[in-house]
Amino acid sequence: MKILIINGPNLNLLGKREPEVYGNQTFEDHFPDLQFKFKKLQLEYFQSNSEGELIDKIQEVGFSYDGIILNAAAYTHTSIGIGDAVKAIKTPVVEVHISNTHKREQFRHISYISPNAMGVILGFGLKSYELAIQSFLE
Ligand code: DQA
Repeated sequence: MKILIINGPNLNLLGKREPEVYGNQTFEDHFPDLQFKFKKLQLEYFQSNSEGELIDKIQEVGFSYDGIILNAAAYTHTSIGIGDAVKAIKTPVVEVHISNTHKREQFRHISYISPNAMGVILGFGLKSYELAIQSFLE
């Protein structure tokens, strides 16, 4: 089973960025733990700060991979383009957030991804990604 984790803008700064919200670990450090935990899966990881690159990647894998785990970060709340890309593809998408966006500012309560996601997991820190992977196994 082939699953791609896609992280959006500023998630390359995990570990340094607002650690009280996002924790102390970089995703690059966390990803090998996920690969180890889910050895039977082909897990891949992609990060970009650019909306167009995120859309290109969603289109590239969205007709052949078994799952996409998408943390579109701030674009979640602004990008009709990423929302449309999620709608256009065949591969199921699980939307993920590290923080509980509903506990935060009002502008984070809107998601252009959710209406076309298979499900949403948020608020469990980096564990949210693991829960999302598990959701593809059940
Ligand atoms: C985030 C939540 C977003 O509101 C924010 O813009 C992010 C990260 C999260 O994982 O909690 O960059 O997607």
